[in-house]
Amino acid sequence: MRQISVLRPGGFRALRIVEAAPPMPSPGMVVIDVDAAGVNFADCVARLGLYASSWRYAGWPFTPGFEVAGRVSALGEGVRGLEIGERVIALTRFGGYAEQVAVPRHQVFACPSRLTTPQAAGIAVVFLTAAYALDELAAPRPGSTVLVHSAAGGVGGALLQLARLRGIHAVGVVGSTHKLQAAKDAGAHAVIDASSENWFAAARHYAPNGYRAVFDANGLTLRQSLRLLAPMGRLVVYGAHGIIPRGGKLIGALAAMLRYALLPRFGALRLASENKSVMAFNLSYLFDEVSLLDRIMCSLLTDFEEGSLVPPPTRCYPFEQAGLAHRDVQSGLTIGKCVLTVGSVEANLTRRHP
Ligand SMILES: NC(=O)c1ccc[n+]([C@@H]2O[C@H](COP(=O)([O-])OP(=O)(O)OC[C@H]3O[C@@H](n4cnc5c(N)ncnc54)[C@H](OP(=O)(O)O)[C@@H]3O)[C@@H](O)[C@H]2O)c1
Repeated sequence: MRQISVLRPGGFRALRIVEAAPPMPSPGMVVIDVDAAGVNFADCVARLGLYASSWRYAGWPFTPGFEVAGRVSALGEGVRGLEIGERVIALTRFGGYAEQVAVPRHQVFACPSRLTTPQAAGIAVVFLTAAYALDELAAPRPGSTVLVHSAAGGVGGALLQLARLRGIHAVGVVGSTHKLQAAKDAGAHAVIDASSENWFAAARHYAPNGYRAVFDANGLTLRQSLRLLAPMGRLVVYGAHGIIPRGGKLIGALAAMLRYALLPRFGALRLASENKSVMAFNLSYLFDEVSLLDRIMCSLLTDFEEGSLVPPPTRCYPFEQAGLAHRDVQSGLTIGKCVLTVGSVEANLTRRHP
């Protein structure tokens, strides 16, 4: 079977298709024939060699990919509740860019029937991230106002949808004008275009008394995000994409390391005197929290089944064009999700889950 590996840190061309032995169904594991694999921003960071969790869990060379949609092809001993041929989505802590994956049973979920295969491959990571950030960490009450950075992206759009579902007013910030409509469609009460207005002043305008929570994976905006909080507000930090280069040269990784030094440090006592909290997380270190992830995933998938959540706009790339997908995601211009399809894109688009 084929998989896409990164042999050494690098630009878009560092993604190489290689042959590998098919995974075996060892006890407790589920082997899946992958039809589509979600592309996440973290995959680009890992490719550049800047993602600590890929060093920890995958090493080098490694195959990126945190999520897939496909069909169960083999079950290891002791696996219950799945059938051969069943359509599933799965969380993969690396390794998802492959024609076949072997995944622990608890990371495999039945596919919502409304979704096409590429849509199904692109919902798990961004909605899990958004739900953990919104419900477990920030926990704003219905009627409160929150600010979402990069609001037309994968996680940003998921945060907006979940906020709308929970009766929370969300103000979105986008980095390009062409993203305004997508953020509105996802549920933003107002959207700020940081490319044409002073986003900080506009954010103040929409919530003069401050925000109950700000969701920031940009990094370079953290200091301003903290200032925008109301007393008792929570800043949820889940990334630092602002320090990553938008182009494909490895030299950009060096620039990112320099920009890393510009990220703000927060003083605990100052936070205490302002009654503000900074919370942070990275899902890739939470895979052992089995019951937590299962509870959140099951709730999200029910919402997708019922249609109260809808997949983000999803753009497909053939498996062989993973480099192109990375180029686009790293450009910062994409809307919604990018997904790699194994086999024909058309077949995957028309194939819905039973
Ligand atoms: N902590 C976790 O567990 C976790 C899980 C999933 C994702 N994340 C993080 O959440 C963020 C969003 O992830 P995603 O996969 O959904 O990606 P995405 O939002 O679809 O794309 C990233 C967005 O970041 C903005 N951006 C700002 N500076 C950028 C740069 N230098 N290069 C590229 N984009 C830049 C762009 O939006 P604007 O220009 O509109 O701001 C871009 O659309 C990423 O930082 C990712 O690492 C964290």
